[in-house]
Amino acid sequence: MAFTVMMVFGTRPEAIKMAPLAQVLRKWPGVDLNICSTGQHREMLEQVLKDFCLSVDEDLQVMVQNQTLNGLSKQLLEQLDDTYARIQPDIVLVHGDTTTSFIASLAAFNRQIPIGHVEAGLRTGNLKAPWPEEANRRLTGVIADLHFPPTNRARDNLLREGVVLENIEVTGNTVIDALLWMRENLNKNQWKPAPESPLAQLRDDQRMVLITGHRRENFGQGFERICLALAELALRYPNVQFVYPVHLNPQVQKAVYSVLSHQTNILLVPPQDYRHFVWLMDRAYLILTDSGGVQEEAPALGKPLLVLRKVTERPSVLEGGTVKLVGTVTERIVKETSLLLDDAEVYKRMSRVFSPYGDGHASERIAERLSRWLEENARRRDDS
Ligand code: UD1
Ligand code: UDP
Repeated sequence: MAFTVMMVFGTRPEAIKMAPLAQVLRKWPGVDLNICSTGQHREMLEQVLKDFCLSVDEDLQVMVQNQTLNGLSKQLLEQLDDTYARIQPDIVLVHGDTTTSFIASLAAFNRQIPIGHVEAGLRTGNLKAPWPEEANRRLTGVIADLHFPPTNRARDNLLREGVVLENIEVTGNTVIDALLWMRENLNKNQWKPAPESPLAQLRDDQRMVLITGHRRENFGQGFERICLALAELALRYPNVQFVYPVHLNPQVQKAVYSVLSHQTNILLVPPQDYRHFVWLMDRAYLILTDSGGVQEEAPALGKPLLVLRKVTERPSVLEGGTVKLVGTVTERIVKETSLLLDDAEVYKRMSRVFSPYGDGHASERIAERLSRWLEENARRRDDS
């Protein structure tokens, strides 16, 4: 008998991190995988599905321009409830900390469908940062049946909150599975952006700083200060290329394009598909980001990383000395970036491969534990 595993995701990072697991589960004996895209993101999700040749079985359409969190939640709850009623999965797998993750869990919980939480247990301890993600991840943890934290530290957070050890499996993060697979693919084929890509204009003889930023808690003054820092850095270092793939959230687009579009050595480009983005990360001299996933990827590639946040839910990356939390104050961002651009010794100390979040085999560990759990659960049900 095959168990129906329904995987639900809706945003770019969830899709990137669930893709390697989907590839493993599609072939796993005794598992019938059903992939549900909520469509919380549209274009940015399409890019990932193409990159990983992933087809979805259920395709919801919840995104509206500039959506509010409550508007989005309402759509998700209604549409997912109908989907679960029709498919009757044996377990729902969710990922991380987005509105899709939490609402997909809540909808499953209300129908008494078990929940498996991938990338469980990361915590900043501050409900306002990242917002609303810290709450989404914690709330999902409260109602999940099976937890897949990437590290022992994340497991300990769950244990402290009362999750029992037998429901936890430390697996590493599937983003490293995705990253290593993509990088190998690029290297094997000596892949380069096509001549029509804006990235084709990057020069080999200049250093490149890669930037991403989209956090809701940084909107307003935080974002303004980040953009002012980038403008100042671009003036101070005319021979350095700054590349910023700008997230499609209208709030981000407005803030970034209004301050940075006139600087000749800042290349503002649309969100890049994963192939192009991994190529960019691998080529970057250093990276500035407020992203969750990039905090795990950059150190795994040996790239110095400055995190544009006050707190991180991924404290393990700070232990390797290759990642610094620099916040969103203009002067600090300029100072720390300048230090890396000016001081070869400091740069060398921060350019080291360090990957506490994974070894490229997280998906197999999750699949193995999941299938054991499904069998145990079926036996428990038969016995009762
Ligand atoms: C969401 C997640 C965040 C995650 C981020 C990854 C929540 C609350 N936030 O933030 O945790 O880090 O995704 O990128 O779940 N848009 C498009 N096309 C797209 C994607 C977005 O036009 O493909 C625009 C739409 O106007 C949309 C807006 O961006 O309304 C915001 O999207 P939303 O998913 O609500 O929030 P993000 O800021 O992307
Ligand atoms: N990413 C991408 N294209 C981009 C920017 C980021 O493919 O233009 C990838 C990045 O490598 C990482 C993921 O998207 O795997 C991170 O997504 P995002 O920063 O949107 O969300 P977060 O990780 O902060 O939730």
